[in-house]
Amino acid sequence: MAFTIKVNGSAHSVDVDGDTPLLWVLRDVLGMTGTKFGCGMALCGACTVHIEGNPTRSCITPVDSIGSSEITTIEAIGATAAGAKIQKAWLDREVVQCGYCQSGQIMSASALLAGNSHPTDAQIDDAMSGNICRCGTYARIREAIKHAAAS
Ligand code: FES
Ligand code: FES
Repeated sequence: MAFTIKVNGSAHSVDVDGDTPLLWVLRDVLGMTGTKFGCGMALCGACTVHIEGNPTRSCITPVDSIGSSEITTIEAIGATAAGAKIQKAWLDREVVQCGYCQSGQIMSASALLAGNSHPTDAQIDDAMSGNICRCGTYARIREAIKHAAAS
């Protein structure tokens, strides 16, 4: 079945089953591989994208549930004010280790900063609690979000 979804400001027509997770549409149909597969069960946050600005687990989001909502992925988050600050802070604070979880981390952090320009530690921990990092970069992530907020 054909669906038209809006990704990073462009409309894309995709011919997939309606229950296909958005993650696989992005990666396998549209070739946007910045969004990662981790658990497939909404437990790790690696697949986080924004739908209408809200951080959303694309691994459990069926494509037929999206309608005309705007999807933003890691490929375009740097074009937003909050995303640009977060990405710069990630580089300044050298957050990344293996990198696998970091697309999702950046998407969650960008959504936080877009809605709250000066989050407290508790608010950072709450917003980031669904994003798992096997390399344990949590302390640098928190520092980078504070750095972005102060920039
Ligand atoms: S792959 Fe979606 S939350 Fe883990
Ligand atoms: S940087 Fe390796 S899993 Fe997070």
